Amino acid sequence: MEKTFLMVKPDGVQRQLIGEIVGRFERKGLQLVGAKLMTIPVELAEQHYGEHKGKPFYDDLVNFITSGPVFAMVWQGENVVELTRKMMGKTNPKDAEPGTIRGDYSMFVSKNIIHGSDSPESADREVALFFNENELVTYDKLI
Ligand code: CMP
Repeated sequence: MEKTFLMVKPDGVQRQLIGEIVGRFERKGLQLVGAKLMTIPVELAEQHYGEHKGKPFYDDLVNFITSGPVFAMVWQGENVVELTRKMMGKTNPKDAEPGTIRGDYSMFVSKNIIHGSDSPESADREVALFFNENELVTYDKLI
């Protein structure tokens, strides 16, 4: 079953949106297989956002993502990467459709509430960066 890495960013945690965001994915029918509240060390943030190194917003991005607790999650389901990207909405909340998470709850690209893997390959990499195998559960029966 396909897995993806999703993370409520410090702005989403501080605005008490964890429950709202988890609820959306649960009600859609996706399965939560791992979750933890954590403060990201700078080295992990640099690994996670390595592809953005050198871009003008990189330093602010690393500062922001390490500035307070995040809620890191692994979700599974058919086409979960594409599906959750659709549910999150465009990266820039100004372009995100109403009804999407970013469209409903955010205004600025630097504070866009949630991160989600952009491909199954990124998902594998990001899940492995944030979670050990023994932190992920399996379900015997799929409803
Ligand atoms: P995320 O999906 O976490 O991946 C990279 C993040 O960089 C992105 O969401 C944005 O929050 C952040 N970011 C900040 N400024 C920009 C920008 N100008 N263009 C794209 N992403 C940006």
